[in-house]
Amino acid sequence: MRNPDNVFHVAIPCGDLDEAVKFYNEKLGFKLARRYPDRVTFDFFGDQLVCHLNPSKLSKDKSPYPRHLGITFYYKKEFDSFIRLLTERQIELLDPVTEFGWENQTDEPMDYSESQIGTRFKDMAEEHLTIFLSDPFNNILEFKYYLDPRMMH
Ligand SMILES: [Fe+2]
Repeated sequence: MRNPDNVFHVAIPCGDLDEAVKFYNEKLGFKLARRYPDRVTFDFFGDQLVCHLNPSKLSKDKSPYPRHLGITFYYKKEFDSFIRLLTERQIELLDPVTEFGWENQTDEPMDYSESQIGTRFKDMAEEHLTIFLSDPFNNILEFKYYLDPRMMH
């Protein structure tokens, strides 16, 4: 089990620092921790996300595999409220059916982006709700919620 005083660190490429600040800070609401000429650092749900300015290293498409990052929420209400925030701020989710070819989706009635919330491993212990979105640089983010919290790791 992780010491809650420690933080996970992840670094991703970005093509423009102002755009990174606009997306991660102004849209997603992550605190801007530090900014340097070549990088910007955010408090990403208590962990450290660093966007390194390197336009030549950006991914060419929005494919979530093999690389993406994100948060697994312990509480459904936090998953729901994060999605509500995305909706209110008109942040486009990637459609799991058209983007990734997934067939099964949740059939729970939801008042936000219903068609873009995927259900993975339905009727299995690993069942979880998930959404994907792309930052402006084709870095893919995933946010999910497992019905059984024992499956979070
Ligand atoms: Fe994933």
